[in-house]
Amino acid sequence: MDGTLIEGGAAPFYLPQGDECDVFAAAHRACLPLLLKGPTGCGKTRFVAHMAARLGRALHTVSCHDDLSAADLIGRYLLKGGETVWVDGPLTRAVREGAICYLDEVVEARKDVAVVLHPLTDDRRILPIDRTGEELHAGPGFMLVASYNPGYQNILKTLKPSTRQRFVALEFGFPSPMLELSVVCRESGLDEDRARLLIRIAGKLRGLKGQDLDEGVSTRLVVYAATLIARGMGFDRAVEVAMIEPLTDEADVKRGLADLVAALAG
Ligand SMILES: Nc1ncnc2c1ncn2[C@@H]1O[C@H](COP(=O)(O)OP(=O)(O)OP(=O)(O)O)[C@@H](O)[C@H]1O
Ligand SMILES: [Mg+2]
Repeated sequence: MDGTLIEGGAAPFYLPQGDECDVFAAAHRACLPLLLKGPTGCGKTRFVAHMAARLGRALHTVSCHDDLSAADLIGRYLLKGGETVWVDGPLTRAVREGAICYLDEVVEARKDVAVVLHPLTDDRRILPIDRTGEELHAGPGFMLVASYNPGYQNILKTLKPSTRQRFVALEFGFPSPMLELSVVCRESGLDEDRARLLIRIAGKLRGLKGQDLDEGVSTRLVVYAATLIARGMGFDRAVEVAMIEPLTDEADVKRGLADLVAALAG
């Protein structure tokens, strides 16, 4: 592949909110890493899968967690049949193959991960593997993409400036109602009228963010509700189990949300 973008048809469905596909492709061409910021369920993972397919690159995704270490990304010696063999981690594999490595929820990872990412995300583009004495140089196909949700993390769990300033960054939000309608209909198969009502409800619920809710209802949850309805569940019950219950455990908040929905759904 020469880095040209193929049409989106064969790639996983992703409806752009703006020029994010162009920015991703430009970053890939320029060998720059990309940071995606945005709330849960707004399409970040889908976007990366879509772009990897359009750029003809393999995708290695790592869901970061607070126990994820540099060795989990780079690789380690393992015992196999009495022999010690080196096994590449997902980051090393991606560098060797010229693939896209996607670190989901990167702020969760342990501090030593930043040490690995720094030489790989500045103009050196190298991955030193201390254990084997190798030093890999990332080719033009390799790209590092990381994402995180700036909303719910506490202040301690944010990226250091020296890490974040190695990335080109895109902010994601919830799509406009018109775009969200297309996404929800396409993903669930639900008719437009009922999907439109779900999106109006989602809009109202998002307006409550900060007062009663930490995060607004995600596009993912709207797709869930629409899918349940398309498969025969009653509208109100689907909204309850997919768009209210996942948001909160507080009984009075839930009641407030249900009243709001009842008023809208009439
Ligand atoms: N722009 C979009 N195009 C197509 N599908 C979308 C889009 N936005 C959201 N979706 C739908 O929402 C679902 C959730 O999106 P996705 O898993 O990419 O969210 P995310 O931002 O990665 O969330 P998290 O931060 O929780 O990992 C997708 O499975 C898809 O059905
Ligand atoms: Mg995701």
